[in-house]
Amino acid sequence: MTVGKNIPHDSARTHVSGESIFIDDRPFLKNEMVCGFLGAPVAHGKLKGINLKKALKVPGVLGIYTHKDLANNRWGAIVKEQPILVDDIISYEYEPVCVIAAENYKAIEKAKKLIELDIEELEATLCLQKSIDNEDFLTIEKKISRGDLDKAFSSAPHTLEGVFENGGQEHFYLESHACAALPLENNQMEVHSSSQHPSETQHVVAQSLGLSYHQVVCVVKRMGGGFGGKESQAAPFASLVALCAKKLKRPARMIINKDDDMRVTGKRHPFKNFWKVAFDEEGKILGYKIKLFSNGGAYTDLSESILERAMLHSDGCYYLPNVEILGRVCKTNIHSNTAFRGFGGPQGNATIESVIEEIAHHLKKDALEIREKNIYRGEDLSTPYGQLVDHNTLPEIMEKIKSSSKYLERRKEIDEFNKNSLTHLKGIAVTGTKFGIAFTARFLNQANALVNMHLDGTLQVSTGATEMGQGVNTKIQQIAAGAFGIPAVEVQVMPTSTEKNHNTSPTAASSGSDLNGMATLIACNKIKQRLTSVFYTHMQGELTPADEIEVDNSKDLSHIIFEDSKVTDTKTGKFLTLKELVSIAYFNRVSMGDYAFYKTPGLGFDKALGKGQAFNYYTNGMAVSEVLIDRFTGETKVLRSDILMDLGRSINPGIDMGQVSGAFVQGMGWVTAENLVYSDKGVLLSHSPTTYKIPSIQDTPRIFNIDLIENNTNDVCVHRSKAVGEPPFLLGNSVWNAIKDAIYYVKPENASKLKLPATCEEIVTLLDE
Ligand code: MTE
Ligand code: HPA
Ligand code: MOS
Repeated sequence: MTVGKNIPHDSARTHVSGESIFIDDRPFLKNEMVCGFLGAPVAHGKLKGINLKKALKVPGVLGIYTHKDLANNRWGAIVKEQPILVDDIISYEYEPVCVIAAENYKAIEKAKKLIELDIEELEATLCLQKSIDNEDFLTIEKKISRGDLDKAFSSAPHTLEGVFENGGQEHFYLESHACAALPLENNQMEVHSSSQHPSETQHVVAQSLGLSYHQVVCVVKRMGGGFGGKESQAAPFASLVALCAKKLKRPARMIINKDDDMRVTGKRHPFKNFWKVAFDEEGKILGYKIKLFSNGGAYTDLSESILERAMLHSDGCYYLPNVEILGRVCKTNIHSNTAFRGFGGPQGNATIESVIEEIAHHLKKDALEIREKNIYRGEDLSTPYGQLVDHNTLPEIMEKIKSSSKYLERRKEIDEFNKNSLTHLKGIAVTGTKFGIAFTARFLNQANALVNMHLDGTLQVSTGATEMGQGVNTKIQQIAAGAFGIPAVEVQVMPTSTEKNHNTSPTAASSGSDLNGMATLIACNKIKQRLTSVFYTHMQGELTPADEIEVDNSKDLSHIIFEDSKVTDTKTGKFLTLKELVSIAYFNRVSMGDYAFYKTPGLGFDKALGKGQAFNYYTNGMAVSEVLIDRFTGETKVLRSDILMDLGRSINPGIDMGQVSGAFVQGMGWVTAENLVYSDKGVLLSHSPTTYKIPSIQDTPRIFNIDLIENNTNDVCVHRSKAVGEPPFLLGNSVWNAIKDAIYYVKPENASKLKLPATCEEIVTLLDE
């Protein structure tokens, strides 16, 4: 059985050899043009005129288009409010104003300099607090609550309050946004996009060009990373390049360079969260009140859902008897912030983990003790929104990691170290992730799959899932191969295309394999059922050449199994090779292709009430991280991280370990070094690898232990697996809390001021003050 095995990622070899094809690796077609966009020079302004005359004269420039050339200039994942090209108001610096098609990139750069914009500059809102003060919001207030908060606070022996602030994060996918468009006869358009959401890209292209959906096909072979940044924001780029292709009746591509990509696209949402907590002598939380404000940027994009997920993860791994969670998305004049691995979960989680450190300090107890007191366990496993933490593995994970990481011994060593060292400081922290798996928008929890078995017994499988490096294709390959008892190499997962799989959801919410894997399994089982029936009839030897095999599903044929590329009747021991059976089925005119649809059952979260079954299940995990800080520079090294995850019965433990380590390090980057810096005019200054630092191999924990617990109980997901893509990102928070822990040793009065990211500057300032 290939399911559960460490087969290599289906692109591992070609990624290493350089043979993998990304958008810009596609050979240029005859007459293919290149495209680029001009970004607005101010963060807020009224666009009163565009003069293209000089720019159009640049040799090699083929066309320059503005919002006037689009049939429909508005798009948006939730609210259709965002212009593809600025028409009236410029809402952030570098917002695309026009698109240029040319024979070469040099001509585009020259043309950009010659386009004249007539702009009346307006006052910009560049910080979150200003938009809170002005009540300039993109959403209405959302609320999740239960219990009696007033009573909890008035009767509690201790209360604390504070503000938690986190910064944004650049996705830093290796392949920037990229798209190619091929105009076809009858106004049809074929689009190849680096998109997590081919269906939305198809729809936005069609709407913006005034086409029907059936005239547009969007194909996604793979992305060089998406991390959420290509869930919604790939679509408008596709519209721009398709516009050029349609206007000039020539194929076109638009490959955004790194700096432009960083300036124009949205990032993880910064948050400013105001919290209050009530607790008893032991550190048990009695009441928690939090008001979250996220910085949505100029447009709504996915901000509403991201805020909701932040609210749904504000409990972290901890039971909150009395609680009120409020949330609002702020409107500011920066790029429209968007999905990023964790989708608000990391921000909600980071706040409560930070609060726990403060409770511990207040009571002069170890933070782990406070976490143990409050972790979901025992009788009441209900979250603030009423969903139960089913098959709860959190206490088991906590106990195991506490002992395997030797937390208590190391705490003593750290106490000693910090007493003696004049140059360095150490800190340690355990934090958790209890990540809700499902799209919180219920309609998105659906998928379809197309499975074709060829006459040699090999399979081509197509689903709506997109491959961005996470290994969804490999898992689908294993699921299909497992169903037919054939080696994984005999299954090819095909490029994602809206002509094979339509009305698909983005590959997001970590549920790509859950949804598309299940649809694949159902489609495979439909084909298998017919083949089983053919096998049975054939083995009865009742057929004459004139007979037609009738597929009969009424018999119990569970004794016929598909294994080792054979189909065997376990009662008689008789078998046929799969190839032989496929041939018999074909000549008897039995279909060997099928299509299936899957929707996650049982979901029902009432957004207005803030109550209900928001998720299918939870992926749980914990991490213990120890840091070493240079007291004079603030430089931080992660000495050791231990991670323990519950991934159910993993379909591919090797791929999952890669996801855990990658997500953790990406999470570490968010909480430490990754710092977005803007000028006072709202220009992103840190827009290249020289000024924006993601973790390198040097920054990964010196000792890095990752392990999985055994858990067979997750019967609501394909082969009892659990989603892995985003949940371990939240464990990066252990590094931030370890830094906070370290600061408590020497500057307890400053520790609660620690911001996220805890950059060297941030740390050294707090230590120096
Ligand atoms: N892993 C790689 N290598 N590259 C990516 O872009 N995106 C992450 C995660 N892991 C990503 C990744 C995000 S944000 C999500 S939601 C999931 O993969 C999506 O894929 P899945 O649902 O198939 O896990
Ligand atoms: N997670 C990720 N992406 C999404 C979600 C979600 O819950 N909802 C809409 N897009
Ligand atoms: Mo992931 S942020 O749901 O694409």
